Amino acid sequence: MTPPHFLHPFARPAASDFISIVSGEGATVRDDQGRSYVDALAGLWYCNVGHGRAEIVGAVTAQMKQLAGFHTFDIFSNPAADEVSELIAGIAPFPNARVFLTSSGSEAVDSAIKIARLTHMLDGRSERRVVISRTPSYHGVTYGALAATGLPRNHFGFGEMLADVVPVPHADLDAVERVLTERPGEVAAVIAEPVIGGGGVRPPLPGYLQGLRRLCDDHGALLILDEVICGFGRLGAWWGAEHYGVRPDMMTFAKGATSGYLPLGGVVMGTKVRQVLEADDSFVLRHGHTYSGHPAACAAAIASISLLRDDALLEQASKIGKRLAAALHDFADEGLVAETRGVGAIWAVELHPNADGKKVRDSMLERGVIVRALDNVIALCPPFVISDSELDHCVEALAECIPKDGAA
Ligand SMILES: Cc1ncc(COP(=O)(O)O)c(C=O)c1O
Repeated sequence: MTPPHFLHPFARPAASDFISIVSGEGATVRDDQGRSYVDALAGLWYCNVGHGRAEIVGAVTAQMKQLAGFHTFDIFSNPAADEVSELIAGIAPFPNARVFLTSSGSEAVDSAIKIARLTHMLDGRSERRVVISRTPSYHGVTYGALAATGLPRNHFGFGEMLADVVPVPHADLDAVERVLTERPGEVAAVIAEPVIGGGGVRPPLPGYLQGLRRLCDDHGALLILDEVICGFGRLGAWWGAEHYGVRPDMMTFAKGATSGYLPLGGVVMGTKVRQVLEADDSFVLRHGHTYSGHPAACAAAIASISLLRDDALLEQASKIGKRLAAALHDFADEGLVAETRGVGAIWAVELHPNADGKKVRDSMLERGVIVRALDNVIALCPPFVISDSELDHCVEALAECIPKDGAA
């Protein structure tokens, strides 16, 4: 069969067989064949408030009727961009935040890297250009974000990455310290996901993020937390930073900001960064996207954040996380899987090494559950509105689909 005109992301270009999703409500989506699935990955780790929320559709519709689009370069602004920035600054885990807006997580990460280097340069430290990032982290696909991504397969074929990005193993604080001491005065920033998502769902070791904070303070580097998955309630708090009690200098966000209803990402920066950017009244920030502060995307975010707050969905995230965790820990105790990992409402099982994650994903699809296979890790990251029975269905389907011959 000839592949369709649409070239799919992270897919085989030669593939021609796809599942066409046509509708969604709550934690359920339906395909064009009338099959329904529990969306156990909240789309692609983003649909925190669940599908089909009329409040978001209404807010976007009203915004688009009023003003469908207008840019925010230079002297222009719009009420939705101002309001969402104020809202996000208000829930930031540090005071006095400033918010830069993008349309995706990758753009947010690129922006944070550029702003980190720029901040040092404006403050008289132009030699601070190095970014320390971790393997196996996922930060996106644009060249800056890709360079920071610690998944070498994603780099394949794309040529030179951004220079001066130094990878270190994700749980190894000593490795971070070594780079900082071997390249004194050269490190602009350390970037880390509070919980590694696409790299296999890996919560930090106890004290790890605090250790990063300490090292950054000791060596004059900025700490960027990539909150693209953790932000907006995934761990049961607004941010991973808040959950772990760590104060970053910058945070990147996307996904859960609008629950995926429209594309919106961004960077939240604290005093250390904004003071430098604002110091010279004549300085112009020559960075930004056509759709930075797009009013419809901002309206979607305002409505989604309001739902998270007004429907107490962060508490719900903690609750469903506990239910999921208990069930998945049983899998590990029974030797069905090699490991169970997670925190809040993001969990995964690592299958035994001989098991094929994609096969498990496919058999789960046949049982009406969508999960994500990251090699031999099966990730679950459901919408916060998932019901107990839907969650139990996901767990039962997973139990049925894990190869029994892989059990220890
Ligand atoms: C932690 C993290 N950062 C950045 C990104 C990139 O976001 P986007 O796909 O919106 O560019 C992702 C996407 O999954 C992510 O999980």
